[in-house]
Amino acid sequence: MRTVDTFVDARALGSGCVGLVPTMGYFHEGHISLVEAARRECDTVTVSLFVNPLQFAPTEDLESYPRDLDRDAEMVEVAGTDVLFAPQLSEMYPDEPLTTVSVASVTEGMEGGMRPGHFDGVATVVAKLFAGITPDRAYFGRKDAQQLVTVRRMTTDLSFPTAIIGAPIVREQDGLALSSRNIYLDPAEREAARSISRGILAVADAVLVGERSGEELERIAAEPVNDEPGINLDYATFVDQDTASPLAGLNRPAFLSVAARVGRTRLLDNVHIDRVDGGWVPDVGIRLDEPSILYREA
Ligand code: PAJ
Repeated sequence: MRTVDTFVDARALGSGCVGLVPTMGYFHEGHISLVEAARRECDTVTVSLFVNPLQFAPTEDLESYPRDLDRDAEMVEVAGTDVLFAPQLSEMYPDEPLTTVSVASVTEGMEGGMRPGHFDGVATVVAKLFAGITPDRAYFGRKDAQQLVTVRRMTTDLSFPTAIIGAPIVREQDGLALSSRNIYLDPAEREAARSISRGILAVADAVLVGERSGEELERIAAEPVNDEPGINLDYATFVDQDTASPLAGLNRPAFLSVAARVGRTRLLDNVHIDRVDGGWVPDVGIRLDEPSILYREA
């Protein structure tokens, strides 16, 4: 594996089909699953690691976001990465950008509503990575469902010749979706956080037994979180997979997203519901069969 910090070097090292995995580092098995998917499908696997200030609000955790380049480099090398692109701020933003990318409509609700400007920061940095690295394929987790919708739409609207691949959510044994921010949770907070995935898994079960009402699915997702002391629900929202706009009922591919706050940590989870062979199939992702590296480090 080569670690580089310029776009020129990152692009020069790509040959054949190039697969890009954009990240902000502090890797866990969710990130690694994206690297492994890229390894299976591409000739060159490039991982970008950049904690993007443009997508953090002044009140958010930019300063405290976990960073450990040596740890991260070792993890992605073992997973089969060819190129680790870890630019400094001066490479990514030589000047305060006057050109930014703003994706309308799909960024209005949910995370976009709670974090104004967040998706402009995401879309801008992903567009820069696509322009600078020219990947054939780019891998994103279904974990950040509205981000995936935004990136897909930005790619189409700006005619990037990059195929966008959405990969399943990776979960702890107890159901908690992996997130670099899970290392902020103390044991009591972690216990409270489990209520999110209990709701998500209950939604999947309800879909399997025929529930089709958006309102009812939202109620099922919210209930365990609302019943749990020590966690505050921001939203439980049922939306269209392509537009991220609210859906009254399951008549198109959809996802149900939950966001909640535990102490100072905001957590996200969702279940995608896909159309497969004429039926509705919930995708809750994959559970690890042992505690994640984050759980062991926390
Ligand atoms: P980051 O939070 O580091 O996530 C990098 C990628 O890993 C994203 O596509 C995210 O959806 C995926 N991911 C995170 N947790 C996951 C899990 N439990 N299972 C599966 N995939 C998971 O998302 C970002 O960085 C940034 O916004 C970025 C796209 C890099 C732009 O700065």
